[in-house]
Amino acid sequence: MSDTKSSAPVLMFDSGIGGLTVLREARVLMPERRFVYVADDAAFPYGDWEEPALNARIVDIFGELLDRFKPAIAVIPCNTASTLALGDLRAAYPDTPFVGTVPAIKPAAERTRSGLVSVLATPGTVKRQYTRDLIAQWAQRCHVRLVGSTQLARLAEAYMRDGFVDEEAVRAEIAPCFIEQDGRRTDIVVLACTHYPFLVNRMRKTAPWPVDWLDPAEAIARRAKTLLENVAIRPPTAMSDVERDVAVFTSGRMDFATRRLMQSFGLSIL
Ligand code: DGL
Repeated sequence: MSDTKSSAPVLMFDSGIGGLTVLREARVLMPERRFVYVADDAAFPYGDWEEPALNARIVDIFGELLDRFKPAIAVIPCNTASTLALGDLRAAYPDTPFVGTVPAIKPAAERTRSGLVSVLATPGTVKRQYTRDLIAQWAQRCHVRLVGSTQLARLAEAYMRDGFVDEEAVRAEIAPCFIEQDGRRTDIVVLACTHYPFLVNRMRKTAPWPVDWLDPAEAIARRAKTLLENVAIRPPTAMSDVERDVAVFTSGRMDFATRRLMQSFGLSIL
């Protein structure tokens, strides 16, 4: 068996800590792999950005990251980035396999019984043509409500650092997801931002009725694992000598709570 701990790492990229919801699943499925977690916190939140500027930023940053870490694959556990930049990233860096994260509209459409599905995401993801195309392709027979939240990603960041979240704020942000129509009710809410699973217990508590909260983290981790099985093992690079999982924050500024959070995920700060 090859020693994958000392081979090229899996790179994970999000605007903040949301991608950690996918990292924890990926670790379970691929305990032998090494991970580099990148948070573009200097630009957080991505949900508020104009598309051309954000696209250019992400493509640029990847140039540096791929040079520096030479990953076996790059995973983007961020809907806001994937629905915008995945195509350009693949075109710009054809030697790197990319795994994106896009709203789980297809599985939601397959699973719903009432036919009323809500997609909870950042304002950016809700606006994207990519998201609209997913609905047109997979959910024609459902009523899909797109709910753009300006606050939830921030609330999740604060919750993971400080251990506290304003439940009333969570209630207000998720409320538009719940629809009653002709005796039917929304029965699935797609968590289309990787930050949101951190708040799912608060969402359950403040929801007006029980629904299935669809978190795609495990599916993304599985896709990454499958793709890795087909990727030739790249020879170790200087970075590969470091036998630990690392976190990089683009702002270069990390407060105590962030450091502690990264440590709790077993990530050393670079
Ligand atoms: N975690 C991100 C996502 O999945 C985005 C959060 C943000 O930066 O607005 O969409």
